[in-house]
Amino acid sequence: MAVGLDIGTGNLAAARLKNKSVEVKRLRNAFVSIDEEQKQRLASGNLNAVHIKDKSFIVGDEAISIARILNQEVKRPMASGVLNPEEKDGRSVVGALVKALLGEPEEEGERCCFSIPAVPVDNTKANNVWHTGFFSQLVEGFGYTPEPVNEALAIIYAECADEGHSGIAISHGAGQVNVCASYKLVGSLEFSISRSGDWIDQNSAAAVGTSIARILKVKEDPAFNLLDPEALDEEAGPAIYYHYAAMIKYEIGHLVQQWAKMKAQLDFPDAVPIILSGGTASLKGFKELWEMELNKFQKKNPLPFKVKEIRMASDPFGAVARGLLTYAMTQELAFGIA
Ligand SMILES: Nc1ncnc2c1ncn2[C@@H]1O[C@H](COP(=O)(O)OP(=O)(O)OP(=O)(O)O)[C@@H](O)[C@H]1O
Ligand SMILES: [Mg+2]
Repeated sequence: MAVGLDIGTGNLAAARLKNKSVEVKRLRNAFVSIDEEQKQRLASGNLNAVHIKDKSFIVGDEAISIARILNQEVKRPMASGVLNPEEKDGRSVVGALVKALLGEPEEEGERCCFSIPAVPVDNTKANNVWHTGFFSQLVEGFGYTPEPVNEALAIIYAECADEGHSGIAISHGAGQVNVCASYKLVGSLEFSISRSGDWIDQNSAAAVGTSIARILKVKEDPAFNLLDPEALDEEAGPAIYYHYAAMIKYEIGHLVQQWAKMKAQLDFPDAVPIILSGGTASLKGFKELWEMELNKFQKKNPLPFKVKEIRMASDPFGAVARGLLTYAMTQELAFGIA
């Protein structure tokens, strides 16, 4: 028995094997503080509330709608892929959310592989030591055996098994873009950049002088299409499109740059697939925009790898948790702790 836990800036997800198929549960990694009066008023609503010392919070998916009703900003326990140092209460909140997702271990010391981001190449001050230590201890405290695994490597496990675990997996989250290039799990490159969904939201909102809430409403509308960005909103739509295109260009540039640094270990003999995953990649038109940006890039610079195909992950929101579960089960088979 094992569990895969994706700890993301925007969403938390846990994958387990249930009746021979994988079940993925997801919760928004968000919260909102409520005072005594609001607590009384909301008490009848059967909401996901967490009480820590003398404070109360609405957590998870309901935090988004309650924040709107109370006209408050949603708070986030994490920022840029790691624990948010500005939100001290966030640590207790994320602890409660992880507990709700994991529940009790099915056996003492059940393996729990959890995702960690790579250190971003565009923020040399960042590190993930504190973040990794905090979640290892948290998960261990719930009775599991924790094992941190790179988020993009998990996607290689979820999506590239048929290709001998060879591919370039790119996880487009809220806080970061995480990249892993693997050739049969031997030569591998892992890095992240700190421009992703939140960067698109903040910069699109600032560019056209609007709120992040309006940007999110357009961006997360199932009808929004990056190939026809003006259709839903003539101002916010194109702003979102330009920031998406800029993020993709930036990410391709960094991929080629990081590859060049590790050239000797990354001489992949065969063409490999590029897997696009994560909530930020889940929009209509994302794959097409990615292909267009890669073609533009290729006209000016040769690529150091051969591309077999560019494809979307089969479950962009759940791929990391699914891959972590597969990784955990592979470890169980190899080292069998039970
Ligand atoms: N329906 C949707 N359409 C478009 N974007 C969405 C949708 N739902 C969520 N997103 C965006 O996807 C991002 C969250 O994606 P995801 O859950 O993969 O990130 P995360 O794993 O929590 O973050 P990270 O990996 O950076 O720590 C957010 O920026 C969010 O706005
Ligand atoms: Mg993620």
